[in-house]
Amino acid sequence: MTADREFSTFVRAPANIAWIKYWGKKGPQLPANPSLSLTLKECATETELVATPAKDLAVELFFDGIHQEKFRDKTRQHIELLAALHPRLARFHYLIRTHNTFPHSSGIASSASSSAALGLALSRLLEAHGEVADAGSFARLGSGSACRSLHGGFALWGETPLVKGSSDLHAVDVNAHVHGDFQGTRDTVLIVSRREKELSSRLGHAQMDQHPYAQGRNAQALGNLQRLWKALASGDWASAGEVIENEALSLHALMFAAHPGVVLLEPNTLEIIRLVRMFRAESKLPIYFTIDAGPNVHLLYPASAQLKVEPFIRHELLPFTDQKSGVIWDCAGEGAS
Ligand code: PMV
Repeated sequence: MTADREFSTFVRAPANIAWIKYWGKKGPQLPANPSLSLTLKECATETELVATPAKDLAVELFFDGIHQEKFRDKTRQHIELLAALHPRLARFHYLIRTHNTFPHSSGIASSASSSAALGLALSRLLEAHGEVADAGSFARLGSGSACRSLHGGFALWGETPLVKGSSDLHAVDVNAHVHGDFQGTRDTVLIVSRREKELSSRLGHAQMDQHPYAQGRNAQALGNLQRLWKALASGDWASAGEVIENEALSLHALMFAAHPGVVLLEPNTLEIIRLVRMFRAESKLPIYFTIDAGPNVHLLYPASAQLKVEPFIRHELLPFTDQKSGVIWDCAGEGAS
C-alpha cells in the first residue's frame, strides 16, 4: 500500500440547473427518479485543497479568505462519509480555500458546485495514491445533484432504460444525444430574492418519503424524461420547454402539498412567469423558465434568440429582481476541471 504523502490540487466545478428535477431519495443518497440537467459556465466553485498526512482527520476551511465554521463542518461531514469507504481519507489534515464566482445565497445551488469540487479533489487525492475513486459518487455523497456538475453540457443522473450505462451512483454525459441548438443554451438567472432558503434540500427530499403524491411524482418524472429525451434528440425547443416548465411548477406543487406545506415562490416570481409566457406568445421565441427550490428564475433560450430576448429581460423583467444582485447572464458550460 502506498504511504500517505502531501497532496495539493486546484479544482473548478460549475453549478448546474435541472430540467428534470431530482426530488426525493431512496437509500444512501440515491435518487427516487432520474434527473437531467444543464451544466453552467460562469457560476462555479473554485477550491484549492492541500492535504498533509496526519494521525487524525482535521479540516481548516477558508471561504473567500475567511474562516467559515458552517462550511467547514459540512465539508468535514462529507469527508467523513467518504472516509468510511476509503479509510485513507481520514489520515490527513486538509487546508481548503474555496470561493464561488457567483453571489452567496443567490439561489444558485452552491451545494452542487462545492460538493462537486470537493468530491473531485478527494478522488484525485486517492488516485495520486494509486487508489481507484469514482469522482461522481464522491460528489453525490455530498449533495446528490453535484454529481451532474462533473460533466459539461447535458448530464443525466439515475438509472433509466433510455440511457445505456446510466446509474443511480453517478451522472453520465448525454451530449451525444442532444441535437439542434440546445448545446449553446443561454441561462439567464433572475435573482428575485437573496433571502436564505426556508427549506434545506435535505428536508425537502425527506418530505417526499411520506408525500401523498410520491407515486404520481415518480410516474410524472419518468414520463417527462421520456418526452424531454425525444425533444433533445430532435432539437425541439417547444416540446422541451413545455416539459421544463412543467417540472419547475410540479416541484413547487410538491412543496405546497407537503407536510408542512412550503411556499418558496415570491409574488415577483409569479409576475416573471406571467411576463415570460406573454412575451413567448407574442414573439414566438423559444424562451422558457425553470426554478429550483427557491424563488429565483432561470430563463432558458437558444443563443439564436439572444438578441431579441436580452432587451425584453432588461426592460421587462429586471424590475422584478433583487436590486442588489439582479441578474446573472450564464450559458451551457464545460463541467468540472
Ligand atoms: O442536490 P440537492 O440535495 O441539493 O437537491 C437538488 C434539488 C433540486 O435542485 C431542487 C433539483 C435538482 O435536481 O437539482
